[in-house]
Amino acid sequence: MKTLLRGRVLTFRAEPKSIEDQQSYLYLQDGAILMDEGKILACEDYQSLLKVQKLTGQEVREIDHRPHLLMPGFIDTHLHFPQIQVIASWGAQLLDWLNNYTFPQEALFKEEDHAKAMAKAFFDELIRHGTTSAAAYCSVHRQSAEAFFAEASTRNMRMIGGKVMMDRNAPDGVLDTPKSGYEDSKALIKAWHGKGRNLYAITPRFAITSSPEQLEATGQLVKEHPDCYSQTHLSENKDEIAFTKSLYPEAKDYLGIYEDYGLLSDKMLLGHCIHLEPRELDILAQTKAKPVFCPTSNLFLGSGLFDDAGLRDKGITNAIATDIGGGTSYSMLQTLNEGYKILQLQHQKLDPLRAFYWITLGNAIALGLQEKIGTLEQGSEADIVVLDSSATSAMALRMQKAQTLSEELFILQMMGDDRAIYETYVAGEALKRTML
Ligand code: GUN
Ligand code: ZN
Repeated sequence: MKTLLRGRVLTFRAEPKSIEDQQSYLYLQDGAILMDEGKILACEDYQSLLKVQKLTGQEVREIDHRPHLLMPGFIDTHLHFPQIQVIASWGAQLLDWLNNYTFPQEALFKEEDHAKAMAKAFFDELIRHGTTSAAAYCSVHRQSAEAFFAEASTRNMRMIGGKVMMDRNAPDGVLDTPKSGYEDSKALIKAWHGKGRNLYAITPRFAITSSPEQLEATGQLVKEHPDCYSQTHLSENKDEIAFTKSLYPEAKDYLGIYEDYGLLSDKMLLGHCIHLEPRELDILAQTKAKPVFCPTSNLFLGSGLFDDAGLRDKGITNAIATDIGGGTSYSMLQTLNEGYKILQLQHQKLDPLRAFYWITLGNAIALGLQEKIGTLEQGSEADIVVLDSSATSAMALRMQKAQTLSEELFILQMMGDDRAIYETYVAGEALKRTML
């Protein structure tokens, strides 16, 4: 049977040019989304949709979400599945944090039972926080990626993932080899890429943990699978950059390493991109590779301030993400909150329209998936969040003074978290409240 969701509806159609850009979105005060078999059949005014339904005489199950706000599900373009027990590990910057906390936890994902249990917990958290799609790093172990995709499939979520490839500068328990990294990635691509809603990302962790031989093998994988994503880290931390340059002294710069091995494309996601050199900006613009801004992580690890406006001025498309577990919240709302503050420190702005565009259609465009996710257009996959702007008493108090949609969105952006996610629909199925 078809399902109709009633409520206030907001979906973006283009990137907002200002906080007043009403052309960039569709907002329906009494709106409705009609869904069937995991897809959106229609998104329009409730009364006009009802009229059409009555004419055709079809039975519809109606769920009334008024006065809540219906939006496309949020998209997180960079996070680490095996770091769900690393979040909030104290006192270190990137390289020590990896060695002291992260690698030991990732080593545990060799055990299939642990990987499966953590995959369940991971997807529960995404759904609780209104995130319906994500690009995730798994651990080095093939079984962690198996557990990730199997659990994503159970929930029918559109997910991108990949096992990390790393063959040096880390403990044995989290290392592969150029050969095994290549073969395991290839087997995972064959098993999961394009199966159901799953997509594969070829995932060399970063240049420090990949030997030249491994990056060579990675370039081969990218060439053999041009329809897969690739993802890695770039220029996050000053010590990381210095160590990287010492390992690849011939490269023009950090990005030049990935360039030399043929990894760059418009399907490449590059986490962080904080301390870029002018040539790197030009290469990002030319290749259309996508920098990913990770605000809570960049503040938590003391990495630096992402220059959103500087990159955008070069015509580069930035994505935004949590980077769990360097990041400290699964919430894309909290990610926007910290993102706003990082841009404030640089006299840049993240207005609420662009903020909500970014975590929906903007990230979908960065992933090239805008025909499938990130909007409520007819034909899109029915991934929807139901937002309660008065979810906490502090939000309810503030909402009493909100007069415009932008004001309401800004309250969600600054004060919202999982409590503001009333429900999360994945491929037309309500998954959050059944979990409570
Ligand atoms: N660089 C290489 N690996 C990682 C990671 O797991 N998290 C972050 N924030 N940066 C990285
Ligand atoms: Zn990361």
